[in-house]
Amino acid sequence: MARQVEIWNDRAEIASRALLLCQLAYNEAIAKGERFTIVAAGGSTPRVLYELLATKDWDWSKVHVFWGDERYVPATDPQSNEGMTRQAWLDRVDIPASNIHPIPTEADDPAIAATQYEQHIQEFFGINAGEVPQFDMILLGMGDDGHTASLFPHTPALKVSDRLVTLGNKDGQPRITMTVPLINKAKEIVFMVEGAAKAKALSAVLAPKGDVNQYPSRLITGNTIWLCDRTAMNQKK
Ligand code: 6PG
Repeated sequence: MARQVEIWNDRAEIASRALLLCQLAYNEAIAKGERFTIVAAGGSTPRVLYELLATKDWDWSKVHVFWGDERYVPATDPQSNEGMTRQAWLDRVDIPASNIHPIPTEADDPAIAATQYEQHIQEFFGINAGEVPQFDMILLGMGDDGHTASLFPHTPALKVSDRLVTLGNKDGQPRITMTVPLINKAKEIVFMVEGAAKAKALSAVLAPKGDVNQYPSRLITGNTIWLCDRTAMNQKK
C-alpha cells in the first residue's frame, strides 16, 4: 500500500493539513451517500486538529467517531483520550450521541472491554467474527518509542492478527487498542508526528528495514500519510 511522508513546519501546519485530509475523506464518503467513519487518536498532538474540526459545518448526523485506543480510565479522567476528544471537538459540534463510539472502560476486566468494543464494531459494520471492516480514516500519533495507538514495543498486542480490538500494555497499565489488521484496512491512515523527541524513533520507523517489535509503528503498512514537522524529521527549521 502507499506511503506518503510530508514535512511541515510545526504542529499548526500539521493540523491544517490533517484537517484538509479529513475534509476530503468526508466529502468522498458523503458524495457516495455514505456515513463517514473516523477513528480518533489519543495523546496531545491531535488536539489542535480536533479544535479545527469543531469549526467545520459538516452534516454531523453522518459522521461516526471511534477511538484507536484508550487508557483504561473513566472519560472524566484527565488521561482519557475520549475526554480530550470530547472537550476539544465533540462537545462543540451537533453530533448525535449515538454517533460517538467510545471504548468502554467500566468493566473490571479490561479484556472484557476489548471484546465489547470489538463486538460493537462488528455490529456497527454488520460483519461477522473474522471479517475486518474498513474505516474511512484512522488518525494516529506516534510515541517517542515508536509505538502507535496502544501498540507498545515488545508487547503481545503487536502479534494479535485474529481480533479487531485487543489489550495493550504500557508499563503495566492496561490499555485497549485497535489491532494492526484493523488499522491497516482503513481507506486512509494519517499519522501526526511532531517534536525533536520523536526524531530517533521516526527515523527508525521510516527506514527501509527495521525491527517491528522495537518500533511498532512499522507495522502500519496500509494507505498511510505521515504528517511530520521538521524537528521530528531532524531537519533544521
Ligand atoms: C495514547 C495515544 C498514543 C499517542 C502517542 C503520541 O493513548 O497516548 O494513542 O499512541 O498517539 O503516544 O502521543 P502525543 O501526541 O501526546 O505525543
